[in-house]
Amino acid sequence: MPEAPERNLALDLVRVTEAAALASARWLGRGNKEAGDGAAVDAMRIGFGGLHINGTVIIGEGEKDRAPMLYNGEKLGRGDGPGLDVAVDPVEGTNLLAYGRPNAISVVAVSPEGSMFNPGPSYYMQKLVVPAAAKDVVDLDAPVDANLKNIADALHKNVQDLVVFVLDKPRHKRLVEEIREVGARIQLHTDGDVAGSLMVVDPRSEVDVMMGTGGTPEGVISACAVKSVGGQIFARLDPQSYAEKEAILEAGVDLRQILTANDLVNSDDCFFAATGISGGTFLGGVKYDGRHSITHSMVIRGKTGTIRYLESFHDIGKLSKFSAVQY
Ligand code: FBP
Repeated sequence: MPEAPERNLALDLVRVTEAAALASARWLGRGNKEAGDGAAVDAMRIGFGGLHINGTVIIGEGEKDRAPMLYNGEKLGRGDGPGLDVAVDPVEGTNLLAYGRPNAISVVAVSPEGSMFNPGPSYYMQKLVVPAAAKDVVDLDAPVDANLKNIADALHKNVQDLVVFVLDKPRHKRLVEEIREVGARIQLHTDGDVAGSLMVVDPRSEVDVMMGTGGTPEGVISACAVKSVGGQIFARLDPQSYAEKEAILEAGVDLRQILTANDLVNSDDCFFAATGISGGTFLGGVKYDGRHSITHSMVIRGKTGTIRYLESFHDIGKLSKFSAVQY
């Protein structure tokens, strides 16, 4: 039986990421990542306060004693809607914002209660993100050249045509060499692998694949978007310090396990919203035309796979009369 359209929660969530982006954009290039992040956290929390959801933060700003707001376990929303797991990253790429570099974004993902992977003591995971057409031809344990050749075949391209997104970190020295040896092209970014994962599945982007190790929370957030549009993320916890490794083992987690998007977000009924802060190749940043603050966002609904791009014009004069968020 065909169903009538249901509420698309992502259209509520995008107002939350817009608020966070607007508040933090005032800190662009000012060299203060804590202030930029703090402004986004405040705005995001105000935004969640108006939503008819019963949310619990699974991925937030850290533990309660370190993070006064949006901490892991915090309840969000008015409590009168669906029970949801919530992942927030008020500023994904705090350094990108602080130094005015491209692709700082504000992101939120939600999925039904109990369906989101809890990173626990894990900070880092190895990731391989591919678009829908290449999801059955890669293996996290396969050599880099084999994966890239298979991806190129699946996308009907030459391997020299591929663009691989890699975080520019010392730990990726060998990975970068291997990608160069096979002849693929590379985009090296100092930060922001959620944006990198989104670029892989964004039909307008030139990025074909993302490889390398980044944050575990960022991997879960990315999984929500990637799986919604048919792509795939393969991941494995990849502790970067002895202490991190010991804490994961103590929690009884198998470090060898390969996780897929479904392991990270175990429901198709998930929602994702992202708003650009600093601008760049992926989502436009916050800009001002004298009367409006203008934001650029991406909204994804898992059940239908619909991607929406939103350009919003926020009337600064009207909003500043009553809004708790700085526009
Ligand atoms: P922050 O916004 O928390 O600074 O994260 C930015 C980021 O680049 C993520 O996109 C990425 O997953 C992670 O940091 C990588 O961590 P590190 O910089 O420690 O290698």
